[in-house]
Amino acid sequence: MKNYTKIKDISNLSETIKDAILLKMNPFEFQDLGKHKTLVMLFFNSSLRTRLSTEKAAKNLGMEVMILNVNDAWNLEFGDGTIMNMDKSEHIKEAAQVISQYADVIAVRAFPTLQDKAKDESEYVLNSFQKYATVPVINMESATAHPLQALADAITITELTEKVKPKVVLSWAPHPKALPQAVANSFVEMMQRMEVDFTITHPEGYELNEAITKDTPINYNQEEALKDADFVYVKNWSSYKDYGKVLNQDENWMMTKAKLGKAKFMHCLPVRRNVVVEDAVLDSEQSVVIQQANNRTYAALVVLKQILEKL
Ligand code: CP
Repeated sequence: MKNYTKIKDISNLSETIKDAILLKMNPFEFQDLGKHKTLVMLFFNSSLRTRLSTEKAAKNLGMEVMILNVNDAWNLEFGDGTIMNMDKSEHIKEAAQVISQYADVIAVRAFPTLQDKAKDESEYVLNSFQKYATVPVINMESATAHPLQALADAITITELTEKVKPKVVLSWAPHPKALPQAVANSFVEMMQRMEVDFTITHPEGYELNEAITKDTPINYNQEEALKDADFVYVKNWSSYKDYGKVLNQDENWMMTKAKLGKAKFMHCLPVRRNVVVEDAVLDSEQSVVIQQANNRTYAALVVLKQILEKL
């Protein structure tokens, strides 16, 4: 693997998931692979899981890790040919090349504006790093994708499924804030590559990008969609059509124990209790959110391993 910015960068998904599960059993097996190599992690936005699990994974491989909260550094300009006489002090062209001299791998977290659809869809932050950096780039959640999360989710479903082809449902949930579509997008793309019976359910108006959902069934009736589900992945996202808007906060879409049935409950975290999902679900044995978060380490571990093997 050269970079990991999107699900498509995984060439052999089943082998990658299998490798991640083996690494989970023996996390220090490749502890010298990253010796004298440095991972620089750049955060434009907050993180708990991504930051700690990716650092842990890198250290398991013997890498050094440097972390920069980009908002503490110089304000970056991304435009080409801009006259930089305003508030931006440094251009991405220099910044990415400079960081590449300190790093063997660069990981970037940069959320969307949720204001400017075209700008967000251009993935200008992530793609600029990929364009100007001279080392591999990892996506730690960009404007439209969260491929490390989706890989951890795929590992979790593979570990827990009791069926060859489990039924997986992605169910929208209410939330007071406008959230990105990134987690949902990557989960959809991941499920499309897995041996699962996959359905999406959400209120009308919350359709994700059709170029991503393709022919995945969408059911506006949550109860119908959840019938006989084995895994229910709950997530809020803001409207894609009416870009970045919170169209409704219909609490009837909150996940409850009654709606969940016998399914396992999944969420990427952080999650708002009794808004997105009721306590009774999160505090039950059907919730696998802690295992999902644990698998973030092994998703990052297998990705970093595959990148280091190509350096
Ligand atoms: N799921 C996830 O990406 O968590 P953080 O935002 O805490 O990194």
